[in-house]
Amino acid sequence: MHTFFLLVLCAVVCGVSSNSTQVVIETLMDNVVVLRVPDGPRPVANVTLSCGEAYQNQAVFWKKNGVEMNPPQRGNHVTVPVEEMKGGNFTCHPSPDGDALNHTMILIQLQRDKSVILEKKSLAEGYIHCSAPNYKGSFHCSWTRTEFRTNAAVLLVKAQRYMETIPCELNADGSGIHCPHSNCPYNEEQHRISLAVYIHSSSLLEVYTKSFYLREIVRPAKLPNLHLNDEGVFEWDYPHSWEKPCTFFGLQFQVKVVHSGHSCHSDSLIMTNTTDQTRYEVNLKTKRFVFCVRAQDKHTSGPWSHWSQCT
Ligand SMILES: *[C@@H]1O[C@H](CO)[C@@H](O)[C@H](O)[C@H]1NC(C)=O
Ligand SMILES: *[C@@H]1O[C@H](CO)[C@@H](O)[C@H](O)[C@H]1NC(C)=O
Ligand SMILES: *[C@@H]1O[C@H](CO)[C@@H](O)[C@H](O)[C@H]1NC(C)=O
Ligand SMILES: *[C@@H]1O[C@H](CO)[C@@H](O)[C@H](O)[C@H]1NC(C)=O
Ligand SMILES: *[C@@H]1O[C@H](CO)[C@@H](O)[C@H](O)[C@H]1NC(C)=O
Repeated sequence: MHTFFLLVLCAVVCGVSSNSTQVVIETLMDNVVVLRVPDGPRPVANVTLSCGEAYQNQAVFWKKNGVEMNPPQRGNHVTVPVEEMKGGNFTCHPSPDGDALNHTMILIQLQRDKSVILEKKSLAEGYIHCSAPNYKGSFHCSWTRTEFRTNAAVLLVKAQRYMETIPCELNADGSGIHCPHSNCPYNEEQHRISLAVYIHSSSLLEVYTKSFYLREIVRPAKLPNLHLNDEGVFEWDYPHSWEKPCTFFGLQFQVKVVHSGHSCHSDSLIMTNTTDQTRYEVNLKTKRFVFCVRAQDKHTSGPWSHWSQCT
């Protein structure tokens, strides 16, 4: 099985590398054609477009980004030369002034290491940040477009685990996805979730990928109900979204006391400690301090929740 997989992988990888000077033309989805362009000198690619079966017996005029092409392109099937980064929206019309009958977007994907559309979240996380509130399976991911690419639009999101496709919904502003999914919290996870986000800015297409186990991204929600009780002990609750029973899905807490007026991220701390209990007694002479607490899964030592604080 492994050998077979390696052979297939080599066929793919080696094939691409030995032909890396060629432009690869691929239909990504309905009405979208992608040109994968090698790094270095870029040859002109000839792309065949067709207006569609429905318009087989009528006059067809082509435009690129709303402008008639030069030289003019006529007929249901045409071959257009695409140079460098000059993709765009190719539309076919019944007459030079008629409405579009159909269209094909030609996008360019450069085969290089550099990305320009999204900004790195952090060195460890890369371009996409994913998080889940528990082990039930639903997760969300987010990304940030760079300053000059704020109009970049998500074309397609593919999420899957092994053979199963995970449906994801794009946020209204295109800056992230929510993937409602179900997972049995008691099972050992066997396969990673893999995610590919296709995003384009004008005719430049970039594909960002990420692969992870749910357990690596489970981050408890901010701890609710943090308060000082009558006996002078700080108390808080498990997040409502956290997995139950709490005896099985235990959290551990980090408490931190910082100087009054400082944030929980402050390095000038008075003390810090860890506990498994949802209460902590601070024995300090001063009454002016900020009490902070956050949680992580005790068993996986996964990501920490955001801080909760009590002044
Ligand atoms: C590489 O390109 C050449 C010429 O187009 C073709 O004959 C060959 O089959 C390609 N090799 C692979 C591994 O795809
Ligand atoms: C594209 O078409 C032009 C004109 O027909 C031809 O000269 C050129 O060689 C073609 N390029 C490729 C890469 O097929
Ligand atoms: C429009 O073009 C696409 C190819 O880009 C084709 O699959 C589709 O059938 C066409 N639509 C019609 C109505 O012909
Ligand atoms: C391309 O043109 C068609 C027809 O005018 C339009 O419906 C479509 O939204 C355009 N696509 C983009 C990405 O601009
Ligand atoms: C840390 O907390 C435990 C109880 O959870 C307590 O026994 C211990 O004294 C604390 N350590 C410090 C340095 O405050």
